Amino acid sequence: MASVEHSDGQSLSGGEGVRRRDFINIAAVSFAGVGAVVVALPLIDQMNPSADVLALASTEVDLSAIQPGQAIKTTFRSQPLFVRQLTPAEIAEADKVDPSTLRDPQTLEERTVDGKKQWLITMGVCTHLGCVPLGAGEGENRGEFGGYFCPCHGSSYDTAARIRKGPAPKNLEVPKFSFTSDTAILVG
Ligand code: FES
Repeated sequence: MASVEHSDGQSLSGGEGVRRRDFINIAAVSFAGVGAVVVALPLIDQMNPSADVLALASTEVDLSAIQPGQAIKTTFRSQPLFVRQLTPAEIAEADKVDPSTLRDPQTLEERTVDGKKQWLITMGVCTHLGCVPLGAGEGENRGEFGGYFCPCHGSSYDTAARIRKGPAPKNLEVPKFSFTSDTAILVG
């Protein structure tokens, strides 16, 4: 059927032109949608972490050389990480504290893995303003509660790395970790 179109494409005969114009609009929107997908894909691809980034996201730590009472400093995601084997006396010291009296109430059990509470894994970042506390290195000052001591403003952490004195608001953070064997952990 012939139809007469006005300059704006609208038809006088049965709206065929209107439908065609709608089709053109829909097609334009569809192309815009395809364009968005084409643009989005490279962005999503860039957001997927590469293998070396994934490797950085977790850290394996060999525990075999850390004796009771010793600690090591390593790094996790470019931040200091403290790995410490507590002595039975340090465990007893942590356990005798009533957690309800603490600024950031937590038991040693809650901060360690079941059956392996001698292994205290924490970030080495003071929860006040982010200094690296002392206490993980050989002969360093562990503060009056025997855990870690932050020299920046005097925060003292106990043998479960819980804040006991000074301006820090929280315990040293325990990162997500798991044992991959009796003598190794995977952090992250
Ligand atoms: S940064 Fe540790 S006490 Fe201020």
